Amino acid sequence: MIISSATDFREAARRALPPFLFHYLDGGAGAEQTLRANVDDLQAVKLRQRVLRGSEQLDLAVDWFGEHYGLPIALAPIGLAGMYARRGEVQAVRAACHRKIPFIQSTVSVCPLAEVAAQASRPIWFQLYVLKDREFMRDVMRRAWELGAKTLVFTVDMPVPGARYRDAHSGMSGPNGPLRRIAQAMLCPRWAWDVGLHGRPHDLGNISTYRGHATGLADYIGWLGSNFDPDIGWQDLQWIRDEWKGTLIIKGILDPDDARDAIAFGADGIVVSNHGGRQLDGALSTAQALPSIAEAVKGKLTIFADGGVRTGTDVFRMLAMGADGVLIGRAFVYALATQGQAGVERLLAIMEKDLRTNMVLTGAKSVREIGPHLLAR
Ligand SMILES: Cc1cc2nc3c(=O)[nH]c(=O)nc-3n(C[C@H](O)[C@H](O)[C@H](O)COP(=O)(O)O)c2cc1C
Repeated sequence: MIISSATDFREAARRALPPFLFHYLDGGAGAEQTLRANVDDLQAVKLRQRVLRGSEQLDLAVDWFGEHYGLPIALAPIGLAGMYARRGEVQAVRAACHRKIPFIQSTVSVCPLAEVAAQASRPIWFQLYVLKDREFMRDVMRRAWELGAKTLVFTVDMPVPGARYRDAHSGMSGPNGPLRRIAQAMLCPRWAWDVGLHGRPHDLGNISTYRGHATGLADYIGWLGSNFDPDIGWQDLQWIRDEWKGTLIIKGILDPDDARDAIAFGADGIVVSNHGGRQLDGALSTAQALPSIAEAVKGKLTIFADGGVRTGTDVFRMLAMGADGVLIGRAFVYALATQGQAGVERLLAIMEKDLRTNMVLTGAKSVREIGPHLLAR
């Protein structure tokens, strides 16, 4: 099939993946209203066309926390990305390094930190969940630091896992899950050969490193499910700010008051995010939430945003609404599932081209010039 956009990659991924994996990626919480709103509200943001502004020389580079990046984009942390392509996190980090953008490795990646860091030509960013097992948190933070990660993305919007109804239907969870997953894999021979057989081991690499032994994915997901910590407040986490000597970004902010609390906590950045519509169904879309958060804290810390970003135009929209950088989640995994590292590089090239076109059509010469004055009112 012809691939010219993230939408095409999504369709190709749907055809290539066992349904339980496609729906785990594609789905969201509850009735998926927030998931849909992320996409729809972002696409509804109107841009201000300007003409004859002479912007052939375009600068798409950004500086975050004293480091230089090639595009205002980062690959979002995605749990189990290693199930979508052979050693998926390794392929994704190579693509990110090739394009000089951050790869944010999830706590619940398939490949362990050491395997990914060994393949990265730039420091990876590491994402951490709040878990009851504080010893695990300390241990994995120490390992990330020793492997060169200087940026910790601390996700706070998952004190409990959201209700993912699609997973019960697809076989990701629910009755006879293991049997249904094997049956589905057998009907996807390319995936079964490439990832099912040659992409092993299939476990949560950071957790098996910590526990010192490998067992099945289901065992780790059980460990994780019972380890989220709903009984947690900012004050319980101050030790993380005190112990982490690098950059600290709080991911999962959707309210200006929480953004102010993140500043009080000592964060260097936030990600305006509702976890891709996978947690509180009925929460604001990020396109709705971002402008008021930017108004409250712009310039006081670095603002990233994610949720529903499928095109370079969407990246532009997030920047115009006040983000300093944009994370892409599902879009890059659709590409990874379809063409591995080459697919992610291709998606980034498509997004870069979109972004350039939009900059010419709005008269912005550098991504730093993109701001609310380029929104049509
Ligand atoms: C399959 C999947 C797994 C995810 N795993 C994590 C994770 O491990 N840690 C995290 O902070 N966010 C996780 N997220 C949320 C993403 O980092 C990001 O916030 C979200 O995907 C952005 O929305 P988008 O997919 O519409 O771009 C996950 C999202 C998806 C779709």
